[in-house]
Amino acid sequence: MHDTIFFLGKGGVGKTTLSSAFALTLARKGRKVLVASLDPAHNLGDALRVRLNGEPKNVEENLDALEVNLAQWVDRYLEESREQLKLNYSYNMTLNLDSFFSILKYSPGTEEYAVLWAIEDIHCRLGPSYDFVVFDTPPTALSLRFLSLPAMSGLWVAELTKLRERILKDRQTIARLNPGSPVAEGCVDKSDDKVYGKLGSIRARLAALEVLFSKHSFMSVIVNPDELSISEALRIKDDLSRLNIPLSALCLNKQGGSEAAWQLSPELSYLPQFTYNFSKGGIHSRDDLRSIGVEPLMNYFLGERKTKR
Ligand SMILES: Nc1ncnc2c1ncn2[C@@H]1O[C@H](COP(=O)(O)OP(=O)(O)OP(=O)(O)O)[C@@H](O)[C@H]1O
Ligand SMILES: [Mg+2]
Repeated sequence: MHDTIFFLGKGGVGKTTLSSAFALTLARKGRKVLVASLDPAHNLGDALRVRLNGEPKNVEENLDALEVNLAQWVDRYLEESREQLKLNYSYNMTLNLDSFFSILKYSPGTEEYAVLWAIEDIHCRLGPSYDFVVFDTPPTALSLRFLSLPAMSGLWVAELTKLRERILKDRQTIARLNPGSPVAEGCVDKSDDKVYGKLGSIRARLAALEVLFSKHSFMSVIVNPDELSISEALRIKDDLSRLNIPLSALCLNKQGGSEAAWQLSPELSYLPQFTYNFSKGGIHSRDDLRSIGVEPLMNYFLGERKTKR
């Protein structure tokens, strides 16, 4: 079952154009669609000719769109982490939370987590109101990092869970040997431990996102007739296959737009291919988007979905 579609590829290959065209075509076929941009430098609104924000805005019948406000998601993620830390470590007055969080805001990984929780929100809160959610993604490096986060963080959280179990067990041993000790006072079972509970809920959220990416997402990679975009598509394929996320389709966009010699790597030729010509007059309207001709890709996607059900 594929209810979520991602368009991936090198900068400028046509991710925003094809995700808008795909969403528009599905919507005009009567399916209810949300198209969401995860790119910090948004231009989905420009492509659809509407002004967008972080909540769904109706573009036309059956089609809503939004541009994730990443700065807001970073603040939200930090605020939630701060509240959690305060709750769990209220006894530790030596920790200066404010300076800790002002550093964390600019730490590597923070933006990727923000994108991940934004995807979760779109999938869980908004997704049920739509038949399909189409994601227009940021440049490859950031996309690969957020797509790999559930698996990578899942490993970390599993180790932290084991560590917490050991701490709780050791506390219980101390409490048995010395029932009057301060450790005995705060000694709780796994089921009552807030930290253990929180680790469990993070693990479940990450596992659900891992399943979303690897089993329920249709991953389209876009290339142009140039070597660099093809090299980048190969990197995407290799990185995603290490995460057990299979590619679903290859979009050859802007065909005939350049005379330069290029060759499709045999490593990509196993994928179903969909070709889009370079529109010499440019793409200026929603009707121009529709005329790119994404029906074959859409029909393939809908057919795949049926066979997997
Ligand atoms: N088939 C096409 N024919 C003509 N122009 C195209 C075609 N596809 C995309 N373009 C144009 O190429 C430019 C880049 O496209 P687009 O913004 O969709 O790429 P992107 O991959 O989303 O870029 P970024 O990585 O910057 O987000 C735009 O000006 C768009 O109108
Ligand atoms: Mg784009």
